[in-house]
Amino acid sequence: MSTTTIAGVLAIRKGIAQPIGSLTQMGTVRLGKRTENRTPRIKEFVPLAGLDDLVFGGWDIFEEDCYAAARTAGVVEQSLLDQVRDELEAVRPMSAVFDQRYVKRLDGPNVKKGRNKKDLAEQVIADIRGFKERNGCDRLVMVWCGSTEVYMKETPAHATIESFEKALDESDVSIPSSMVYAYAALREGIPFANAAPNLTADVPAMLELAAKHGSPLAGNDMKTGQTLIKTVIAPGLKARLLGVRGWYSTNILGNRDGEVLDDPESFKTKEESKKSALDFIFQPHLYPELYADLCHVVRINYYPPRGDNKEGWDNIDLVGWLGYPMQLKINFLCRDSILAAPIVLDSALFLDLAKRAGMSGIQEWLSFYFKNPMHAPEVYPEHDLFIQLMKLKNTLRYMMGEELITHLGREYYD
Ligand SMILES: NC(=O)c1ccc[n+]([C@@H]2O[C@H](COP(=O)([O-])OP(=O)(O)OC[C@H]3O[C@@H](n4cnc5c(N)ncnc54)[C@H](O)[C@@H]3O)[C@@H](O)[C@H]2O)c1
Repeated sequence: MSTTTIAGVLAIRKGIAQPIGSLTQMGTVRLGKRTENRTPRIKEFVPLAGLDDLVFGGWDIFEEDCYAAARTAGVVEQSLLDQVRDELEAVRPMSAVFDQRYVKRLDGPNVKKGRNKKDLAEQVIADIRGFKERNGCDRLVMVWCGSTEVYMKETPAHATIESFEKALDESDVSIPSSMVYAYAALREGIPFANAAPNLTADVPAMLELAAKHGSPLAGNDMKTGQTLIKTVIAPGLKARLLGVRGWYSTNILGNRDGEVLDDPESFKTKEESKKSALDFIFQPHLYPELYADLCHVVRINYYPPRGDNKEGWDNIDLVGWLGYPMQLKINFLCRDSILAAPIVLDSALFLDLAKRAGMSGIQEWLSFYFKNPMHAPEVYPEHDLFIQLMKLKNTLRYMMGEELITHLGREYYD
């Protein structure tokens, strides 16, 4: 996902590829009444950082530079990679904070050593400052694009900044590597997004840290592939009050992500992330006759021959008028990282915008991009893709002092 994002941005700014799938680069926003015909491009409406101004850096447990890593990932064609080869080779990973107990299927040599997790966090902060200075950056954004970690639940160590820092000092087991990076970013006041399903920044200590240092936050787990389609189809069925008795989703995937997810503990993290969407969209407590007995099964099978070209099958058992059963089958032959890259870019650019607009903490308007959107404890997460898009665009209108669009539209007929 990271190398596809980086190689893609480099190719797009050279004019040799199109930013397809990116709302910040291709999307528009309607302003005012439909009769006004004001529909600027989003990137012309809000002051986003331009692609030419971006510099990339990161950490990995493998020492390969970005060109070599992109070749290993096998997503972007060699001929395109070769056209941005020099710039890709210049992106070399800094040594990682890594502990195999959180990602069982991986091991690599490019790993930091430290007295404890606090020391490792300080090393990441030093990396961040060094990167910023070397590259003359005004601002930074961090997006966790590392592997899926094992399933973890919130513990007392995650309750406050104080308890979290004590746990860092003691190298507490409840702090996985991804949290060390998130802590470092938030302490530096840097916006942070979690592109993976891990707990990472979704704990009270991180929210407190984000508020204290003015960092916007978004996550979790990029909404690509099967879940993207699920959050398009499910709102449609619900809008027409069609019942759903069963939704069976299965995937085959052969990239390194698939290999990591072959470990049951990492899969559990992904499964939880993928399963929550339907419950929140269907609201079975409000429509028990339609959705209370829904059987939702999600499977991912690691199948190396397909590489990043994931294939997903969904079987949906529907119920219509008078209880008559129907079925809907979806077979999506997608490319996981090709779907992920534009939204990694968008979330980074929007988080940077949010930071400049003085917004901090959870950015619910960026739920559009995530499988398992972060949300305030007192509200349920919004999963419906179309409501998410409306929320996102209304937030942009709000930032720029434009009227919010309610879609009421009475004025055209009065
Ligand atoms: N690829 C996609 O399109 C996509 C879509 C949605 C969500 N995701 C999620 O994003 C995450 C990454 O997916 P991917 O396809 O890019 O996987 P990947 O295996 O291609 O890349 C992950 C990289 O993270 C590195 N890594 C693991 N732990 C690390 C650590 N502690 N510090 C630094 N580097 C570390 C690995 O060495 C690997 O190079 C997964 O959780 C995945 O489920 C990916």
